[in-house]
Amino acid sequence: MGRITFNLNGSKVEVDASDELPLLYALRDELGLKATRFGCGDAACGACTVIVDGVARTSCDLPVSAVAGCRVETAEALDVDPAHPLLEAMLAHQAGQCGYCLSGIVMAAKAYLDAGGGDDRATIAQALDANLCRCGTHARILDAVEDAARRIAGGAA
Ligand code: FES
Ligand code: FES
Repeated sequence: MGRITFNLNGSKVEVDASDELPLLYALRDELGLKATRFGCGDAACGACTVIVDGVARTSCDLPVSAVAGCRVETAEALDVDPAHPLLEAMLAHQAGQCGYCLSGIVMAAKAYLDAGGGDDRATIAQALDANLCRCGTHARILDAVEDAARRIAGGAA
């Protein structure tokens, strides 16, 4: 048990937690941010994906102690005014059905776009390969990320 400090969506946060507590539970249960989802709990579905220091990571298998001093982003970071172009594109293309997978998918997509990724569909699909969508809305998700890349390139960001 110890106090762990990191930057969460631009603000410094502290949690009192065991070193082994998965970041997913620290986010949801200790910090009250519910966008990040539990899917498989075994690093196999991507529902819990967040961004740590610019890299998409599954948070169900990442101890909170491993992000001490790091910059962590969750899907809540996109819900700003004006909305992030990726969120605008996801809504415009209705890129989801039940929506359960989407928090993880948007974070994997954001990491891709933040790293300068463009609108090539095959490259986007590769970047999202670790994220499953049980509803099978992959085509609309890819449409949305392509659109987001074009919006960002066009100066919408
Ligand atoms: S819940 Fe973390 S990868 Fe599935
Ligand atoms: S929209 Fe339902 S799991 Fe992806």
